Amino acid sequence: MTRPDGVLSELAAWQAAVRDQFPILSGAPGSYLDSAATAQKPRAVLDAVQEYLTTGNANAGRGSYPWAGRTTALVDRCRRRIKGFLDDPEPDRSVVHVVGGTTAALRTLALDWLVDHLTDGDEIVVPFADHEANVSPWREARDVLARRGVRIEVVAMPYEPSGDYDLAALAALVSPRTRFVAVTHVHHVFGVDMNIHRLRDVIGPEPVVCLDAAQSLGHLPVSVRRLDVDFLAFSGHKAMALPGVGVLWARNTRGRRYAPRGWEGSPNTTGLVSLEAALDWFEETGVERIALWTRALGARLTAALDTLDAYRVLGCQDSLAAGSTVQRRQGIVTFRHRGIPAADLGFVLSEHGFMVRANSHCQAGATPGDASVRVSLHVYNTVEEIDRLVGLLAALNAECG
Ligand SMILES: Cc1ncc(COP(=O)(O)O)c(C=O)c1O
Repeated sequence: MTRPDGVLSELAAWQAAVRDQFPILSGAPGSYLDSAATAQKPRAVLDAVQEYLTTGNANAGRGSYPWAGRTTALVDRCRRRIKGFLDDPEPDRSVVHVVGGTTAALRTLALDWLVDHLTDGDEIVVPFADHEANVSPWREARDVLARRGVRIEVVAMPYEPSGDYDLAALAALVSPRTRFVAVTHVHHVFGVDMNIHRLRDVIGPEPVVCLDAAQSLGHLPVSVRRLDVDFLAFSGHKAMALPGVGVLWARNTRGRRYAPRGWEGSPNTTGLVSLEAALDWFEETGVERIALWTRALGARLTAALDTLDAYRVLGCQDSLAAGSTVQRRQGIVTFRHRGIPAADLGFVLSEHGFMVRANSHCQAGATPGDASVRVSLHVYNTVEEIDRLVGLLAALNAECG
């Protein structure tokens, strides 16, 4: 494996050319380090939206004139494009339900599908230390079922102290009644790949698995075939498309067949235009390379913070050092300082032009006391930005450590 600093110099010229494709960054008042909240958009996405809205905007599935026909074809093509991007092994069987985002996707699944899939005494596994969007829908489903007189057991996903799923402990909790397991691909606070490729070995072939891919799509290759998951949700806006479009993908090989319920209304055509352009852009740019870059930048930041002992980086510690052979951190670095409250740290960083998030990041069960500073990277972030950030964090540490 090339060491992260080697990756940064090998890919430097490529990265500079990629960064140039983000118009917002050329006039930016500082460093955008909040891509886990929402990602910036490359020119290709902005151009595709502009082109669509100025040359052929219409509704889909309604009219028969050329603009309407083109839009209907676009929606169908985009659904196929999403399946291809996810490495869907059976695109003729699966379903892509276009929704507003990850939150909407998971809630739709919980209330339109899960409640009909489960029977009295069934068990579901819920990751209670993940994003709230991947926790509250499953509780809601349990409550709906309870009102129908169906009692299900909600089993808490066990975690290791590092924030990883404790797959050994999970193995002991799985029973023949375990019907559904909700997981996250990359944790939005700890930043690590949650080892989903090992999940099936632990839970066996039967349970339905739902993957929250909000923080992995566009950051690393996401293959539903390799991960062997049954449902997948992601948000367009975190994947360089426009806000307001998201996907619930259903494999439809385990459990009840999923199909969108009821009258769906007009699709978010502009959102789909942007999503198709974003997926094309990821493929042309190379998701593997994007992952190498952001992982290496994250390793540079974590390695620097590791030398300043008043800072503590959350999540898997094996991923910290730049020389570590375990680089599971995917460009999200979340930390606290021993003496400076996260909100204050966030304020000072903002004053210096660093756009980071400083709170508890919508993590389920987190209280304001759990606040931390999250630096979340994408391919457009540079070594120079990280080094300037490290310089400021070191200076603050010298003042307040
Ligand atoms: C892991 C994860 N899941 C779900 C969500 C919710 O995404 P959205 O607000 O786009 O619905 C987020 C947003 O930050 C997230 O990080």
